[in-house]
Amino acid sequence: MAAPSGRRGVWGLTSLGARRRPGPWVRARGWSGPHGASGPRLMLGSSPALLQRLSRDLEVRPGFVSPEEEAALVRELEPQLRRQRYQREHWDQAIHGYRETEKSRWTAQSETILQRLRDIAFPPGVPQLSMVHVLDLDKTGFINPHVDSVKFCGDTIAGLCLLSGSVMRLLSEDNDTDRVDLLLQRRSVYILRGVARYQFSHQILREEESFFGGQKVPRDRRISIICRNLPPG
Ligand code: OGA
Ligand code: MN
Repeated sequence: MAAPSGRRGVWGLTSLGARRRPGPWVRARGWSGPHGASGPRLMLGSSPALLQRLSRDLEVRPGFVSPEEEAALVRELEPQLRRQRYQREHWDQAIHGYRETEKSRWTAQSETILQRLRDIAFPPGVPQLSMVHVLDLDKTGFINPHVDSVKFCGDTIAGLCLLSGSVMRLLSEDNDTDRVDLLLQRRSVYILRGVARYQFSHQILREEESFFGGQKVPRDRRISIICRNLPPG
C-alpha cells in the first residue's frame, strides 16, 4: 500500500466535475436504518424510483458510536494527525483542507469499534484492506465529486463520521438528474455499495453549500474513518 502522501494516486479520481442541475427531492422512507421510518430523514433523492433502486446499496446509520467512543478514537488519532498540516491544494484537486493517514494497528477499544463497522459493512470472509483510511477535514475542508479507484478498492466503502455533521452528495455518472443527498450526522456511519459506489460520484459539501433539504448542516472539523474491501481478482 502506498504511503499516505501518495494516497491520492491510490484511491485516485476516476471522475471529476459536478453536475449541478437542481432537481426535485424526495425523501427516503423507512430504509435508512433503525431510525428510518420514524426518526429524522437521512436521505433525499431526486426520485422515489432512484431511492428504491439504491435501497440495498446505500445505508446511513446514525449514532453508530457513543460520545465516549468518539472521544477515544479521536484521542488515539490526534497525535498522528497533528504531525501534519492541513493541505490546501490546487483548485482542481479532489480534497481540500485535509490531512490524512492510514492505520493498521489500533487500541483494543478502537479495534472493537472498527470490527463492529466491518461486521455491518462486509459479509464474513470478504477480503478487506488492512489499512484503515483516516481523513481529517478542517472546517473549510471539502471533497469534490469522485469515484474511488476501482483498482484499489472493491465494491464497498464504509465510513464512520466523527466530530461534525456533513452532507454527502451522490451524483449519477450516467445522467444529469439522478442524485441523492445523505445527512451524515456526527457519530454516524454510511455505507456505499455496488451501484452507489460505482455508478455515482460522491462528495462532501463545503461549509457554504452544506444544506440538507434546505436545512443548514453546520460544518466543523470532521474526521472520517473509512474501511474498504479489496477489488476482485
Ligand atoms: C475519500 C472519501 C469520504 C469521507 O477519501 O475517497 O470519499 O467520508 N471520503 O471522508
Ligand atoms: Mn471517496
